Order: sequence, then C-alpha cells, then structure tokens
Amino acid sequence: SDIKKIAVIDGDGIGPEVVAEAKKVLRKTEELFGYQFEIEHGLFGGIAIDEKGTPLPQETLEMCKNSDAVLLGAVGGPKWDNNSKELRPETGLLGIRKELGLFSNIRPAVVFDCLKEASTLKPEVLDGTDLIVVRELTGGIYFGEKFRRNTEFGEEAVDTCAYNVMEVERIVRQAFEIAKTRRKKLASVDKANVLESSRLWRETVNRLAPEYPDVELEHVLVDNCAMQLLRRPSSFDVIVTENMFGDILSDEAAMLTGSIGMLSSASLGEGSFGLYEPVHGSAPDIAGQGKANPIATILSVALMFKLSFGYQKAGDLIEKAVKNVLDYGHRTGDISTDQTNVLSTSQMGDQIIAAMKK
Ligand code: NAD
Ligand code: IPM
Ligand code: MN
Repeated sequence: SDIKKIAVIDGDGIGPEVVAEAKKVLRKTEELFGYQFEIEHGLFGGIAIDEKGTPLPQETLEMCKNSDAVLLGAVGGPKWDNNSKELRPETGLLGIRKELGLFSNIRPAVVFDCLKEASTLKPEVLDGTDLIVVRELTGGIYFGEKFRRNTEFGEEAVDTCAYNVMEVERIVRQAFEIAKTRRKKLASVDKANVLESSRLWRETVNRLAPEYPDVELEHVLVDNCAMQLLRRPSSFDVIVTENMFGDILSDEAAMLTGSIGMLSSASLGEGSFGLYEPVHGSAPDIAGQGKANPIATILSVALMFKLSFGYQKAGDLIEKAVKNVLDYGHRTGDISTDQTNVLSTSQMGDQIIAAMKK
C-alpha cells in the first residue's frame, strides 16, 4: 500500500503540545481510512540550538527532504531572543522554507458561525468571512541583503527588499489558480505608491491578469487592506501579497476567526510536497500549561491531506469534526467567552478525534 512519510517537528514552547494533538488525528485517520503514515521526528529551532548547536541541523533538513510532507509546531522563545542571527530559531525557519523551495504560504481564515462571539469584531461584520491569504514566503525583505555600517550619526542597520519577475509570477499564478476554484476574486496587496518592488509586483500582476479573465482582480494598498480586512472581511476571497505584508495581514485575519489558535497554513513549492504549520508562534506566555488551542495545527493536517496527499475525504472529515466540536460548545481559553469552563489542549484534541466518524 501507499505509505506516506511525514517528518514531524515539535519545535519550542507550545509546539510539542499542539503537535501531540495533531498526531492523534493522524493516527485516527489511519484507523478510519486504512492510511499508513511513517512518522519521523527531528530537532529544530531553539531546542536544536541547545542540543545540536544550530537551529536547523543537517539531519533534520535531510529528513524533511526525504519525506512526503512536514508537520511543524512552532519555534522561538525568550531564551534565544538575544542570540546572534545564526543561532536564532527564526533563522532556522527561514532556512527550512528556503532550502525546501516553499515559496507559497497558504493561510486560510474561515469564520465558524459559532465562534463569532469569540472575535473582537461585530458578528454581522464577520458573516460569511472565508478568505485565503497567499503569502510569498522565500523573498522580499526577509531574504534581502542585510548589514550594518557606521555613519556619522552612529551605527546604521540595513534590510533590503528585492523581488524579481520570476518570484512574483509564480506566487501570483498560484493565487489566480486558487481564486479560480473559489469565488473568483483576487486582491493583490502591495505598496506600489512608495516601493519599487511593489511597482514591479503590480506590473507583473497586471500582465498575468488577462490569462485569468474569469477572476475579478483588485489592487489594494497594504495600509488600506489592513483597514478593509476589519471593515469588510467577507468581501475578500483570495489575497496575494509579498512576504512581510502577508505575515502581518494573516495575524490580523486571525482575529476575524476569534483567535490565532485557529489559523492553519500550508507552505508549498512547485510539487505536491508541503510543510504544514499553524500560523501562530511558540506562545511562551502559555507554554507548558496545557492552554494552547491545538485546532490550528489539526487543521494544518487537514490541509496536508488535501494539498499534499490528495486525501480529500479525510481532510473534510477533520474539518467537520472541528466544526462539530465547536458547535457543541467545546472551547479552549483563547476562543472562550467563559474562562471558568475551558478545555485543555489535550482535552480538545480528544474531543476532535472522538468526533471523527466516517
Ligand atoms: P505567538 O503567536 O507565539 O503568540 C501571540 C499571542 O497569541 C500570545 O498571547 C499567545 O499566547 C497567543 N497564542 C498563540 N498561539 C496560540 C494557541 N495555539 N492557543 C492559544 N493562544 C495562542 O507570537 P509571539 O508571542 O509574537 O511570538 C512568540 C515566539 O514565537 C517568538 O519567538 C516568535 O519569533 C515565534 N514565532 C514562531 C512562529 C513559527 O514558528 N511559525 C510564528 C510566529 C512567531
Ligand atoms: C510566521 C512567523 C515567522 C515569519 C517568524 C517566526 C520568522 O511569524 O511564520 O508567520 O515571520 O514568517
Ligand atoms: Mn507571523
């Protein structure tokens, strides 16, 4: 039979806690669908710095390259915040994305009706919100030249933002293709009134647009987009944008759903291989307390099934189980309006696997 190799990386902070629940879901689908997953674990992030002296050990990278998909918790924490760049967990994250060619980061933000109360926004504003942020992941200011130099005004730090046509084309094409399968609306977000890289971005989008005549395209400046996301979130379908804008806008979009603990993501390249991780970080403020919401990571498994394995039914089943558990009223602290009655991370995971029925 068809055995899928999954590289599992716990990472730091709440990473191991949320990944443990996602693994329960993997095992449950083996039971229900007869799938076989070969799970390997690797060190990555802060814990890898502590144990191997580098955030992205070569053997972890090899393990990922030899797998069909990667499931990642989160990395980072105060312990490593003052380290030099090479010894930062985040540097490992950027490295793994680059090394694996994962230029496209898909971040869906879907509002569950029963969670509208958990959001800080008015329920009527959230009605029907179902959008995807397609974030460019291996270019822009994250990967541009960086250096420091001395000036007469003291030390100066420089980060450069660069995009070439190939990088813009491949992410924008993916976004158009995704829009074609949905409500056929694409918002391209840039800062073309100021940035040269954004002007090339916009020119490129406009050059490709005629190839997708059925997709309605709008250009939105990033500052306006940040505002429109709160004003009219349900009017967005697919949002495509560069690396840092996508990072910021997806955290903002998280609050439409009630919590960053709800947002899953897929990082993809040209093939079916993908890295799946929650949008949130290692949440040091709640780590080790069983408070983390595992749903973002569990929904990332659903994305893995659909986008890397073609297991559409199993992916749908996971999403339906999450919805049922929330509809029933189960909540972790981040999405609860009543803090006296909340589930722990593992209790939430248990409820979700119990709700997984064919
Ligand atoms: P964060 O996403 O870790 O936390 C922000 C807030 O959201 C915190 O109050 C946290 O408790 C809460 N939160 C996050 N995930 C949650 C969950 N699953 N359930 C309930 N509440 C949750 O962002 P931060 O505090 O800015 O960053 C902390 C560390 O994580 C930093 O070192 C940062 O670099 C790293 N980080 C890593 C990733 C990643 O690995 N992909 C992503 C973002 C941040
Ligand atoms: C994310 C994170 C990372 C990013 C950090 C930890 C490097 O915020 O995955 O959204 O900025 O891409
Ligand atoms: Mn982020």
